[in-house]
Amino acid sequence: MFLMDAALRMRETMRNSAPAFALAQIGSRLLGFELDPYAAALTQTALEILLSDLAEAAGRSIPKMVRACDTLEEPPEEIFDLVIGNPPYGRVALTAEQRNRYGRSLYGHANLYGVFTDVALRWTKPKGLVAYLTPASFLAGQYYAALRGLLAREAPPVAIDFVHARRGVFEDVLQETMLAVYRKGESASRAQIHYLHVSNEREADIIRNGTVGLPAEPKAPWLAPRDPQHSALISRVEGMNSRLADWGYSVSTGPLVWNRFKSQLRDKAGGKNVHPLIWAESVAADGRFVFRAQKRNHTPYFKLERGDAWLLVEEPCVLVQRTTAKEQARRLIAAELPHEFVQEHGGVIVENHLNMVRATVEAKVPPSVIAALFNSRVVDEVFRCMNGSVAVSAFELEALPLPDIAQLKTLKRLVAQSADRALIDEECSRLYGEAV
Ligand SMILES: C[S@@+](CC[C@H](N)C(=O)[O-])C[C@H]1O[C@@H](n2cnc3c(N)ncnc32)[C@H](O)[C@@H]1O
Repeated sequence: MFLMDAALRMRETMRNSAPAFALAQIGSRLLGFELDPYAAALTQTALEILLSDLAEAAGRSIPKMVRACDTLEEPPEEIFDLVIGNPPYGRVALTAEQRNRYGRSLYGHANLYGVFTDVALRWTKPKGLVAYLTPASFLAGQYYAALRGLLAREAPPVAIDFVHARRGVFEDVLQETMLAVYRKGESASRAQIHYLHVSNEREADIIRNGTVGLPAEPKAPWLAPRDPQHSALISRVEGMNSRLADWGYSVSTGPLVWNRFKSQLRDKAGGKNVHPLIWAESVAADGRFVFRAQKRNHTPYFKLERGDAWLLVEEPCVLVQRTTAKEQARRLIAAELPHEFVQEHGGVIVENHLNMVRATVEAKVPPSVIAALFNSRVVDEVFRCMNGSVAVSAFELEALPLPDIAQLKTLKRLVAQSADRALIDEECSRLYGEAV
């Protein structure tokens, strides 16, 4: 598809040139890679039809412009002004040699589109452009930390367009999609944001809206407003430098992967070393902690065996659901795990679909304040501008911009008084610079 449009444009700029010259230019400047030999042949044929009159006038055959090959294995040359791609995506098991070759952009699991982005940089001339249609998950995910670092150093984004497509226009609606343009050799500055509302395969409304800067540490998530109305909020957030670590907390996932411990699940309390098992449904949508096990295979108790001490959580913490979709009213659903409950049972077991926000040193802010802040509308919106997938990761929670501790006096007071949620929400908005 992209090759066709590119060929048409090249042809148009050479409309006054001799057909043989125009054809030779297009043939030597345009190149596509495709793994599937049928798709490659189809594209070459489409190009041949498109350029057939030029070939006839020139008395030449049409050059080969589509290579049936594995893009990851083609030896790159820095020769293109523009590399365009709609790369494949999904986890990929790279060979040891590939992991070594693409090591500069890898962190843990490799995703095809991330590796393809690295490849694009290798084919682009200095000052050339890369224009890629990809999932937006690399803006925040920890697995893309090295790729963000590479892009910030070598080819920072100059424009990011978020694609809002109606159901049916793109195959995978769960994946947030973006079009990004990177310029190689540019020093990182601000990227222009657009929103593309795609109603069918031929039409899109484009809204231009503000710019975003990369964080000082580019491996950290890149926040970008997903909606024009979040633009002002995100530019204020760019100046907020506190993180959970500054409040004395770190985040980890609940340690229990239940199906590896099936024989230790219990329906009832009682007996030695039996503790409450906390599942994601214990964190209610309204931010309360409700001890319950309602879903299939979920049991409310767990028996610790010898060597399982690492599963026991004995200190107060904030629990945050790990899987939430953007269609849900809140992406961040948090509750304080009440200290009395933990004490009463001598500790609890937290299942893996929850994140645990735990004090690492003496906590500088009570857990209840963290839970209230995470459950507020404004922090939910900030999180949505960070994360485009369904996972709420420990890495992203630790990267959430927070107010300075010195500003929390009113919020602490309201939470301690169990004030109305609307009042707490209002105070959280104020802390993020919103006029209330
Ligand atoms: C999202 S589709 C885009 C198709 C086409 N480029 C377009 O924009 O209409 C991704 C394409 O990448 C191809 N592909 C997957 N792995 C590849 C690889 N290692 N090398 C080259 N092409 C690959 C797939 O066959 C598929 O056609």
